Amino acid sequence: MAFDLIRISGLRNLTDCEFAPHKGLNLVHGENGSGKTSLLEAIYILGRGRSFRDKQLLNAVQRGKHSFTVFGKKDLQTDQSTIGVSYSTNGANVRIDGEKVTKLSMLAKATPIHIITPRSQEIIENGSSIRRRLLDWGVFHVEPSYQHFSSRYHRALCQRNMALRANTKTAAIWNKELVESGSKMQELRENYFIRVKEEFFKQLDYLEVGLDLEMAFYRGWSRERSLQEVLDEGIAGDENRRFTRMGPHRADILFRINSKNFDKWGSRGQMKLAVFALFFAQAKVISALAKKDTVLLVDDLSAELDKKNVKKIIEQLSFQKNQIFITTSDDQLSIGRSVGKMFHVEHGLVSELGV
Ligand SMILES: Nc1ncnc2c1ncn2[C@@H]1O[C@H](COP(=O)(O)OP(=O)(O)O)[C@@H](O)[C@H]1O
Ligand SMILES: [Mg+2]
Repeated sequence: MAFDLIRISGLRNLTDCEFAPHKGLNLVHGENGSGKTSLLEAIYILGRGRSFRDKQLLNAVQRGKHSFTVFGKKDLQTDQSTIGVSYSTNGANVRIDGEKVTKLSMLAKATPIHIITPRSQEIIENGSSIRRRLLDWGVFHVEPSYQHFSSRYHRALCQRNMALRANTKTAAIWNKELVESGSKMQELRENYFIRVKEEFFKQLDYLEVGLDLEMAFYRGWSRERSLQEVLDEGIAGDENRRFTRMGPHRADILFRINSKNFDKWGSRGQMKLAVFALFFAQAKVISALAKKDTVLLVDDLSAELDKKNVKKIIEQLSFQKNQIFITTSDDQLSIGRSVGKMFHVEHGLVSELGV
């Protein structure tokens, strides 16, 4: 599952461009400000319906224009599939194989896409929500029922929190629904996490990180108590604080070295390598369990990583059978024999170079 044609118009400085990527490794060169991150942003939008760099998709519309359009054609060997996303002040218009779709989850289901940016260590440094989202993105791809339980849980949680805020003393009526949907969510997350963890440590070894890193799943409440107990017995405390303090909505992935938080002990370079290991691990598990290949985007590979680590990552990238797009402003960066196609971006124009 790879894009064999991508067309972008009116997105940031990419006025009109079309290119035919390789089904393996694509290397995109260009000076700062040429449009490399925008190109990855366009591909990301094809799989997620949103941007990774901007909460407001409207900001991606080229100044002076009313809308942008991204189109991708995938060659599925037996069949072809097309995805089109346009965005304007009127909102999004998404089409899969020409049919209009209204749910972004349909888009996500069609193509798993994952990005690593130069700020990727934030996954480890920042609060739990970024790690929870990452985990949920993976579970969503491997467990078709996950979305159903997660939506049920979050709907009920929202109602419970509204009742707590309004101090109506009716919050406990939502406990049953939270326990039913939340326990299922937790079970699916945990099964997925076990697989990712196994793969993560293999990837850490391949990347020769050489750290005694521990990775654990925190389910959002204590292992000693059931979700039912936590919600029923915690109601007085929740009423006091006016929100639901524990449950799957507080889940996290914990990274530690010698029982100390990784972000306090690890260097930025080590954290970045760990994030790459997680990135590869998730792609591997999604491919094994969902039979879907993730499109991997790596923005500005050489930024903030030393040459030795860049080399290790390129080596690992070359072992993946996924479609990969790597951008760099370093024209000395050597990808070796594994590169499928090279592109050059200049003033928003994309051209293919001979390999
Ligand atoms: N909405 C927009 N309309 C037009 N140009 C934009 C918009 N947003 C950003 N840009 C410009 O697009 C150019 C490319 O940005 P970017 O893709 O981040 O470059 P690179 O990653 O190659 O350094 C920049 O010069 C930036 O100022
Ligand atoms: Mg950039």
